[in-house]
Amino acid sequence: MARKNQTLGEFIIENQKDFPYASGELSRLINSIRLAAKMVNHEVNKAGLVDITGAAGETNIQGEDQQKLDVLANETFINTLTNREIVCGIASEENDEFITIKGQKNDHRNNYVVLMDPLDGSSNIDVNVSVGTIFSIYRRVTPTGTPVTIEDFLQPGNLQVAAGYIIYGTSTMLVYTTGHGVNGFTLNPALGTYYLSHPNMKFPDDGSIYSVNEGNYIHFPQGIKDYIKYCQEEKEDRPYTSRYIGSLVSDIHRNMIKGGIYLYPSTSKSPNGKLRLLYECNPMAFIAEQAGGKASDGYRRIMDIKPTELHERTPFVCGSKNMVEKVESFMD
Ligand code: AHG
Ligand code: MN
Ligand code: MN
Ligand code: MN
Repeated sequence: MARKNQTLGEFIIENQKDFPYASGELSRLINSIRLAAKMVNHEVNKAGLVDITGAAGETNIQGEDQQKLDVLANETFINTLTNREIVCGIASEENDEFITIKGQKNDHRNNYVVLMDPLDGSSNIDVNVSVGTIFSIYRRVTPTGTPVTIEDFLQPGNLQVAAGYIIYGTSTMLVYTTGHGVNGFTLNPALGTYYLSHPNMKFPDDGSIYSVNEGNYIHFPQGIKDYIKYCQEEKEDRPYTSRYIGSLVSDIHRNMIKGGIYLYPSTSKSPNGKLRLLYECNPMAFIAEQAGGKASDGYRRIMDIKPTELHERTPFVCGSKNMVEKVESFMD
């Protein structure tokens, strides 16, 4: 039972029985994410004071210029997750290949893989706007005792055992699911403790906010163009309100609380859109579904896509159930 103002530590212990494979490993894994998120939060909060804004001078496999905080957040999560005997492999937006973790005895006995977007919305860093972290957790499918393989990472989203995000916003929040609903915890920075502030989060079935980079309108498929025009029509509850932060985490978080839809469609230049299936879309889809919302590529459920590549991209439509279904009805 979720109790308001419970600490995240208490919540993890009290709900451990609901975790799949209730061995305590997943609890420890969530605990290490909670710790890494505190460290990244500290860095993000002082980003304007010390020289950690701006470009790092490197390009990642997606062809994006890495920001210093992208690199710092990546290292913080990798170090925190590696130093505990839980995770056998990590895949990250900022690493071309997955990382193999042998464990302290070099025996590959750890059971979980983590896929992550260590810093989401990096174009927002230099202008003091919210950013986030996204994570997705699976049990390995290859036998314990052998090195992790690409098969352990290329699992469909419907096999996730946990997923979540951290939003470094006006407050810092950790929101996650283990398949038993979605709970949100707010960090009290004075104490360094997260408290359950948003128990059992739910996407309203309908909403009046749409979030899309309309600068790309000309390149969108006809169905998406038609849907955007629908949002702008003068009817009972329309036109809808347009809100786009440019950080998937922040846009989805707002829409989950207020009711709305987020779209990153295919474009004529990028037929698969921009967002990465494994560490952006799948975890957000798991959260959305657990909160009563929906996530689709316009035609099919995101979590049923069988991935073929680590950094695979997919068009993404996610949010209030009736709004996502409306978009699907516009697609041919
Ligand atoms: P990241 O900063 O992790 O590379 O992700 C950025 C993503 C996502 O967070 C955001 O919604 C989207 O890119 C914004 O893209 P546009 O600037 O093309 O709208
Ligand atoms: Mn990036
Ligand atoms: Mn991202
Ligand atoms: Mn990122």
